[in-house]
Amino acid sequence: MSDWIELERRCLACQKCALADTRTNVVFGKGPRDARIVFIGEGPGENEDLRGEPFVGRGGQLLDEMLSLIGLSREKNFYITNIVKCRPPQNRDPLNTEQDACVGYLWEQLELLRPRVVVCLGRIAAMRLIKPDYRITKEHGQWVERDGVFYTAIYHPAALLRDPSKKPDTFADLRSIRAKLRALCPEVYS
Ligand code: URA
Repeated sequence: MSDWIELERRCLACQKCALADTRTNVVFGKGPRDARIVFIGEGPGENEDLRGEPFVGRGGQLLDEMLSLIGLSREKNFYITNIVKCRPPQNRDPLNTEQDACVGYLWEQLELLRPRVVVCLGRIAAMRLIKPDYRITKEHGQWVERDGVFYTAIYHPAALLRDPSKKPDTFADLRSIRAKLRALCPEVYS
């Protein structure tokens, strides 16, 4: 636990990139620190910046509703965070230089969490965590295993709000995530 406290302290004081100048809050992450599954977005938006918590806007509400359908909640059994911990101005995509400066905090979080399943929310996280040329429309829901950790990506909740016709694909991906969890770590559902 002291490792978490020390990591969060360093992250909250971070000045490694220019996003530090415009943030209200660093958005470190939320959820149980023994979660078997982690969801990773790209970076905080306005609501997240104001509250200091990931995915608390309309997209986050949709995500929580969808995940509750497969028995997951951030209070009980998943951890959620972002590639960059500070809001990019005007909600633009985080720059590669900003991602490079920040992603070390995510690696440290993953080292402490040791999840079995990592779910990227959208293209930006998938390009960083799965492969640089990741194509979300083609490859969402596919699984990649690395050192016993299973990675996949689903559409970003903001994309589902913009285009609800993507929802059936996402529900299929969520069923696949539930099946993977049941196979790998049934204690999530016990
Ligand atoms: N979008 C993200 O990628 N992350 C958040 O925390 C909120 C919106």
